[in-house]
Amino acid sequence: MCDCAGAMRIIFASSEVVPYSKTGGLGDVAGALPQALAAIGCEVIVITPRYSGWADRPGGLVGHSTGELLFSDLAVPFAGGLRYASVWRDHRDGVPIWFIDYPEYFGGGYIYGSGDDDAERFAFFSRAVLELTKRLGSPPDLLHCHDWQAGFIPAYLASVFAQDPFFAGTATLFTIHNLAYQGWFSPGLLDRFGLGWSIYEQGMEFHQAANAMKAGISLSTAVSTVSPRYAEEIQTAEYGNRMEGLLRWRSGDLIGILNGVDYGEWDPATDRHIAANYSIDSLDAKLACKRDLLDRYHLPIDLERPLIAVVARLTVQKGIDLIARAIWRMLDTGARFVLLGAGSESDEGFFQHVRDSRPDQVGVYFGFNQALSHQVEAGADMFLMPSAYEPCGLNQMYSLRYGTVPIVRGVGGLDDTIRDFDAVTREGNGFKFYEYSEERMLEKIYEAMMAFYDHDLWRTLQVNGMREDFSWKRAAKVYLDAYRRIIARRRR
Ligand code: ADP
Ligand code: GLC
Repeated sequence: MCDCAGAMRIIFASSEVVPYSKTGGLGDVAGALPQALAAIGCEVIVITPRYSGWADRPGGLVGHSTGELLFSDLAVPFAGGLRYASVWRDHRDGVPIWFIDYPEYFGGGYIYGSGDDDAERFAFFSRAVLELTKRLGSPPDLLHCHDWQAGFIPAYLASVFAQDPFFAGTATLFTIHNLAYQGWFSPGLLDRFGLGWSIYEQGMEFHQAANAMKAGISLSTAVSTVSPRYAEEIQTAEYGNRMEGLLRWRSGDLIGILNGVDYGEWDPATDRHIAANYSIDSLDAKLACKRDLLDRYHLPIDLERPLIAVVARLTVQKGIDLIARAIWRMLDTGARFVLLGAGSESDEGFFQHVRDSRPDQVGVYFGFNQALSHQVEAGADMFLMPSAYEPCGLNQMYSLRYGTVPIVRGVGGLDDTIRDFDAVTREGNGFKFYEYSEERMLEKIYEAMMAFYDHDLWRTLQVNGMREDFSWKRAAKVYLDAYRRIIARRRR
């Protein structure tokens, strides 16, 4: 039982956890927030799948769990019978990480596949989280479920476990990291998942299909998302992915909490991946990182020209089409451009074509490369993030700490974290435009370049960014307060 002052018991359920698995920011969050919560007195347990069988190019981080095998007989009622999963455990900074090991679902060498297959894999994961929670013996005060993959958890709690006294005092918080990925699946699978029709009608049916995101939003005690701005945006038709009505209905229970940065991982003063360590007081050493980065991308070592970088999943979300439309004009300024990302064949093909056309100006790396993502942050002068939508975005916050000036579209968490630079007052930490247009983006790129060639002004801008503090410590306190309120509401 939570005394709400000390050891609140929280279980985190996430499909990605750094350093074991990652395709994007969710992994970073689930790998750092629990530790920050533990540091302020929460008792946190993380539960995640144990992926294995990695292929050559998995499109995500391929950490293997190094933990110990605890038992191999976790009985999970699923797909018409009992399935037995193995359970592993590791520890990270005082937080136990528990792994659900079931090779039939998680041994295929990928984190996400598609459609009904993924729905089945993560429904199983969600059910296994609840079975493991029971096996651990003491009920949690709150289950913190991340994205649609864990959206089945509130659905199981509201159906299969509705009368189970074990969970009678357990609240749920469902965090939306990205509303665009919703976990749609055929309603015909509900029986197979052990969910049944009444829960479908009560909170999973969405446009005649079953939807795990909807279950998370409608059946949890409370809902959060990863920035205050995105929490407002998703209640509008423009950003609501057809769920705006549902989210407005839940608006009293919906909060936006800005993500933090794990400065233990992302700090140029200590980063083990980069060519030279530096801080505000030794910013000149950043040039060694720029030299190293140009070299890695087989570009001429010209330190005078601005180097613009993109690290992203190459998707519509990240404004890749804007970049594609603007790239030739951007390159005509003489800027260098490096890209790290994985995407569709046509997107990768386009950027390869740009590289082949301007081999002295452009470098590309298609795939997932963690060390390189750090080297890009350290070596670039500017970080371009013209997202169509951005629930939070971590890369712009990493860039700030690395003295790499973000150029962003003012949407979601980008709007909450980046303040447009004013060359007169010298205030601001980056460049920000609003309209989704390459013209507006190019204006900001030109403005950034003007500032870049004014050494003193640029230094001010870099230092403004490096002084920002987006540590998880601050965010963890906000979560803790939210947990308290949610648990109290559940018990009223
Ligand atoms: P999203 O979660 O939408 O992809 P975020 O900015 O929140 O966006 O987080 C992206 C995370 O994934 C960052 O840690 C970034 O460095 C990392 N990342 C994205 N693409 C790659 C890649 N190709 N290689 C290595 N890291 C990547
Ligand atoms: C999602 C969002 C991203 C956010 C991340 C972590 O992947 O696209 O904006 O930073 O989750 O919350």
